[in-house]
Amino acid sequence: MKIIKPVLAFVVASVCSLTVWGQNSPVMPVGSVTNASIEGQQVTLTTDQNAHIRVSVYSPTVVRVRMDKQPLTDDFSYAVIAKPQQMKASITQNNTDITITTDSLTARISKNPFAVAFFTKAGKVINQDEQGLTTSWIGEEVTTYKHMQEGERFIGLGEKTGGLDRRGSGFTNWNTDAFGYRTGQDPLYTTIPFYIGIHSGVNYGIFFDNSYQSDFNFGASNDRFSSFGAQGGEMDYYFIYHTKVADIIRSYTDLTGRMDMPPLWSLGYQQNRYSYYPETEVFRIAQTLREKKIPADGITLDIHYMDAYKLFTWDKNRFGDPMAMNKKLKDMGFKTTVIVDPGIKVEEGYGAYERGLKEDVFIKYVDGKNYSGQVWPGWTHFPDFTSPKGRDWWKKEIKFFSDTGVDGFWNDMNEIATWGQKMPNNVLFDYDGHTTTHKEGHNVYGMQMARASYEGARQHNPNKRTFLLSRAGYSGSQRYTAIWTGDNRSEDDHMLLGIRLMNSMGVSGVAFSAMDIGGFTGNPSVGLYARWIQLGAFTPYFRNHTAVNTKSSEPWAYGEEVTEIARNFISLRYKLLPYIYSNFYQASQTGEPLMRTLAIDYTHDPNVYKGEFDSQYQFGKAFLIMPFESGKNYGKVYFPKGKWYNMFTGQVEQGGQEKIIGIEYNKLPIYIKESSIIPMQSLVQHTGQKPTDTLTVHVYKGDVRNSFVYYEDDGDTYNYEKGGYYKRTISYDPKRSTLTFDKAEGSYKSNFNNIKVVMHGFGGSKVKVNGKSQQANKDFASFLDPISRFDPQGDANPREGYEVQSLVVKNDSDKFTIKL
Ligand code: NOJ
Repeated sequence: MKIIKPVLAFVVASVCSLTVWGQNSPVMPVGSVTNASIEGQQVTLTTDQNAHIRVSVYSPTVVRVRMDKQPLTDDFSYAVIAKPQQMKASITQNNTDITITTDSLTARISKNPFAVAFFTKAGKVINQDEQGLTTSWIGEEVTTYKHMQEGERFIGLGEKTGGLDRRGSGFTNWNTDAFGYRTGQDPLYTTIPFYIGIHSGVNYGIFFDNSYQSDFNFGASNDRFSSFGAQGGEMDYYFIYHTKVADIIRSYTDLTGRMDMPPLWSLGYQQNRYSYYPETEVFRIAQTLREKKIPADGITLDIHYMDAYKLFTWDKNRFGDPMAMNKKLKDMGFKTTVIVDPGIKVEEGYGAYERGLKEDVFIKYVDGKNYSGQVWPGWTHFPDFTSPKGRDWWKKEIKFFSDTGVDGFWNDMNEIATWGQKMPNNVLFDYDGHTTTHKEGHNVYGMQMARASYEGARQHNPNKRTFLLSRAGYSGSQRYTAIWTGDNRSEDDHMLLGIRLMNSMGVSGVAFSAMDIGGFTGNPSVGLYARWIQLGAFTPYFRNHTAVNTKSSEPWAYGEEVTEIARNFISLRYKLLPYIYSNFYQASQTGEPLMRTLAIDYTHDPNVYKGEFDSQYQFGKAFLIMPFESGKNYGKVYFPKGKWYNMFTGQVEQGGQEKIIGIEYNKLPIYIKESSIIPMQSLVQHTGQKPTDTLTVHVYKGDVRNSFVYYEDDGDTYNYEKGGYYKRTISYDPKRSTLTFDKAEGSYKSNFNNIKVVMHGFGGSKVKVNGKSQQANKDFASFLDPISRFDPQGDANPREGYEVQSLVVKNDSDKFTIKL
């Protein structure tokens, strides 16, 4: 009875709330419902203010609310690919309200005035419109106001600066070329109008699908509401309710889609700068990486590969035979990614320009003249990626690169960047047949460019995965591309900001993200570079990049010792590839990110939101990464609930405590969660090289059950879509002290004939495999090589590590259980 009270209170408040809007108020309220009809899973309403509303049930956990001042138009979205599930939702109405009941939630629509509230099945408020404000328009600008719940926190909204908890801040979404941005700057390059609200044991997601400039207020300069609104278009939001944040992300990515499996090589180390040229320089870099035994898979070419920045050209003096260069790089185990910018130089006789004109693909002013803006090549036109014609043209053009053996496309400057200038609003975008202005087209332009590149790459190489990276994006971009955080600075707080930006993108559907390791503008100190490269090994796309006029940024550019540190961590990354790749599989299935802010698994633990801890994150579920600025010898960390193993020493820390730890310059603090299962392989210098045929599976004794989905495929084609994978669940049961490998599924043959199980924290040497006793071997767990500074003679400082037990079994793909 007690929990039913808020429902009643809401209804009473709605009925009693007095309308204070004057006749000629500049703010138009949504008004009171005059008409409501229920049809299957949706309710259609009109109000005395002539607002048109539709509330539809997408799934038991997702309810969509649409509103406009005019009849709702064609339902079109670049973000949403899901259709409502056919399901049983009960919808009833009386004079005062309409009640929608699904298996997971209750939505109550008050009629006078129109307001929505969401409740758990037990009647607890999850989220409700702010009485008196609800939804309103100021001119074309539409905003919905939600009551700020006691202690409510907000996470997400994609690539947004600031802390993990966004309470007390406001944000704008307008994709912006933010060169060398400040750590508090807003907006940056990408728009993801999706956030997660957290309070009193419940959490929910709201995705506001509107590509106009949008504004979110999470109690900035107000103590009353959180709100989201846009400068035009409909109020169109999806409310998502789950008891776990990971499930909210799953539902959000059900709506907006998930990434494909990435090409395996794109998970290796990528070396980049603005710009490596001529090709002899590219080879020097590639060769040095090999000579210095720094594993790497990718070289990225920035704008200087082009002839006078003209897209779809090569500078013939710098790159005489790109095809031969790419082939030779491939033979060395490197894949080439090229930058592609949307601006096409206005120059008679330049092929892409002429072809674009002929096919009439450029964005135009309202009077039909092509829009010109200034960027690298000077005056340029921009293909309209929001039109099928524009995308088709781009797909044809991009063949130019596919034909020369390029394996990745890096979509840059696609906000659209016109030298930081404001692009005029009276240019038109096709918006896939819904002609609109720059105001609505702007925020989806980058996403549609990435889409055209993705579709082009797939068209030219139907059974080969191409790597895609983009700077600008919109919700749903994750279906096509990875996103990186643009032109950061070589400063400590930028390194930590980058982590939070990626963590935030992770809860907002973008699992494949990156930041420029080492920083783009300026030169990092030696210590900062060392720390950054250590952290980079624990980010999804691991690319070192720096600006045109900065110091060299290759792993050997900061001295011998840093070279060793970089080699150590990059090597560790390569050994972890089976774990990382399996986590990408998870992201492709559920949307769960690789970089997991602690708010995903420890949502209601207030410590994880504290500024001193809010950059900590999990890399997959096993690793707890403690990012620290360079130059610190001690730092405070927070261990959430559970037990945590120091990765290097095996020492166990109890969770639920803050602790000061010593920080070593050559070693990022990394902990491993109890009960973790971590598959690893032997060291390779690039992903084209075969590791040994033993897969090493580390298991950490703990008190909680855990399972890990191990996944392999060819890393290169789309055969996995037709069953060409090798997948098995590995489970740890602490009660029975067993590790069980389920029977493998899929038609791909594993690369590993043996499995070596390494037991951390178990102690005993007697194990049983499928009931048969066996003796485990004494082994040594060690994840890094010693750094020579500390070991000049090669014997003073033995390898750091600790004793464990291990056991090798044949990998015959059948189910087996090891009693540990
Ligand atoms: C801007 C990008 O953010 C940066 O990464 C790139 O190096 C430059 N454009 C030059 O292409």
